[in-house]
Amino acid sequence: MYKVALIKGDGIGPEIVDCTLMVLNRVCEKHGIDIEYETALMGGEALDAVGVPLPDETVAKCKESDAVFLGAVGGEKWDKLPGHLRPEAGLLGIRKALGLYANLRPAVMYEALKSACPLSQKSIEGGVDIMVVRELTGGIYFGERGSGGKGEDEYSFDTEKYTVKEVRRIAKRAFELAMERNRKLTSVDKANVLESSRLFRRVVSEVAEEYPMVELNHMYADNCAMQLVRSPGQFDVIVTTNMFGDILSDEASMITGSLGMLPSASLGDGRFGLYEPIHGSAPDIAGKGIANPMASILSAAMMLRHSFCETIAARDIEQAVENVLTRGCRTADLATDKNYMTSMQITKEIVKEI
Ligand code: IPM
Ligand code: MG
Repeated sequence: MYKVALIKGDGIGPEIVDCTLMVLNRVCEKHGIDIEYETALMGGEALDAVGVPLPDETVAKCKESDAVFLGAVGGEKWDKLPGHLRPEAGLLGIRKALGLYANLRPAVMYEALKSACPLSQKSIEGGVDIMVVRELTGGIYFGERGSGGKGEDEYSFDTEKYTVKEVRRIAKRAFELAMERNRKLTSVDKANVLESSRLFRRVVSEVAEEYPMVELNHMYADNCAMQLVRSPGQFDVIVTTNMFGDILSDEASMITGSLGMLPSASLGDGRFGLYEPIHGSAPDIAGKGIANPMASILSAAMMLRHSFCETIAARDIEQAVENVLTRGCRTADLATDKNYMTSMQITKEIVKEI
């Protein structure tokens, strides 16, 4: 019996998590997997209920579980709150509290969605299958910050700081993944300007000595942004800092057709992980039942694979999503006309395929 802490969150979070549970229930029934869910509060819903974005009780529940499954957090209602009280602070806080330093964001182009890619068909000829490995608990999102001064001299700052230990462990994770894939790793930094990037580059190069089978190249973040739209097929695994990974993974997702397709896994050293779609809470479409649940459903597949070693069940979900797309089923974000399916309709099709 596996224990999963379930954080539905804000905006479209609850809708897509409910869809995901339908798929998980089906795949678990098929493969005899037993999952017990315990819901926990985070983000805006936690702010409304108890006044903080990340209640201690939620951290405790997550620590008692084998995995955490998360919808999305955030919304206009809480945008005016000071930084440490915003829903996003809950998300950053839980990643840190659980030691989830490695964020895996696979951007895969489905054959059926090729036409949804905004790039020219020529530039995606060989297909796209990129694994973005984003450092998740360090860098500028967690560095020292502050404000001061008055009038025109008022200032604010955030700091990008990385330790050798932080870079070494994320680099190792990326090299390990590259070994299981096409053995090509691109390390992305801004070493022509930033001291922290020079350390990043140096440590990644050191770790590379342990992985002579992997072809490593270094790329500046601005160049990487450009190369991703020029010829995304050149990338296999990308390893980078927290902020660059945040930005480049959104870009990579769009190349695959929609932000609504990209799952993610946030991992530490063991099998424990937090799984969430990379998209946000999309308040503009919340409650309409039209959100694309596939990023969330694919995140559940990642959970089965990484945390529970249920590879066949994971593959079943991924195959079902692919089949449904091949059959021409589309959610609003992917559709080229008004003929799209609701979140529930497409979920039922995915369940049928399992
Ligand atoms: C993501 C999101 C979050 C991040 C926000 C919501 C805090 O953009 O998971 O990519 O920056 O990590
Ligand atoms: Mg992001």
